[in-house]
Amino acid sequence: MNQYFGIDLAKNFVKDIVKIRFLSNSNLEPLILAYFITFRCNLNCSYCNYIQERFELKYKEVNTQQAKLILHQCRKKVPSVAFTGGEPLIRDDIVEIIQFAKELRFKPISLFTNGLLLQQKEAVLENIDFIQISLDSVIEQKNHGNRDREKLIEIIQKYSKLQYKKNFKININCVINSENIEEIPELLNFAKQLNVKLTVCPELNEMAEPVDELKNGESGKKYRQMIDYLLE
Ligand SMILES: C[S@@+](CC[C@H](N)C(=O)[O-])C[C@H]1O[C@@H](n2cnc3c(N)ncnc32)[C@H](O)[C@@H]1O
Ligand code: SF4
Repeated sequence: MNQYFGIDLAKNFVKDIVKIRFLSNSNLEPLILAYFITFRCNLNCSYCNYIQERFELKYKEVNTQQAKLILHQCRKKVPSVAFTGGEPLIRDDIVEIIQFAKELRFKPISLFTNGLLLQQKEAVLENIDFIQISLDSVIEQKNHGNRDREKLIEIIQKYSKLQYKKNFKININCVINSENIEEIPELLNFAKQLNVKLTVCPELNEMAEPVDELKNGESGKKYRQMIDYLLE
């Protein structure tokens, strides 16, 4: 068993394969809890659909005890968890909440973050298996989505060196849109040099579908070519 994946996740995965392949049963076992622990954020990325008022009003943020209760209940069925948001590290209690997830034996535990508060909340690294830090380009003078490219490069460089010592893995997550399609190879090289993974996602609209500019016209063509390049 890979040190980053838990036995309960593996069991549910195998059960799901059997259900799909041999039993035609679509009542699958859950694999991961995507926990939107807050909809507050310290950034305002141009493409983000997750920090709008409609979320904050609809899903009122719960306190520490309530968050722990939610994790406790979910753990009865779900083997792994990814903390996302909004910006999870903005919560004062995030270290305590992630530690509690560890005590509940969620495996793996992932954290999706914009990285800016990582130095203040470094203690989260003691209890996570995967950390996803968002960065859309390493090209100078470009701060895609409003992210601070230079600061993020420094942060990713710093924490990539701690991956083995602290037993976690980093991936850089990049949102592709018409502005950065051609910058992905440089980002991939940057990731490779630091021994971190690169994941990509097309910019999605509010219906969670790729935005039109990536489906049609010149940008659509470039986008498909870039995906072929990444697959290769
Ligand atoms: C919603 S954020 C939450 C975690 C953290 N605040 C961050 O930015 O990494 C999780 C991931 O979703 C991506 N994301 C945000 N808006 C998106 C959109 N419209 N389409 C695709 N991905 C998006 C972000 O770039 C980030 O990598
Ligand atoms: S940092 Fe994450 S949650 Fe915040 S605005 Fe950007 S994508 Fe949205």
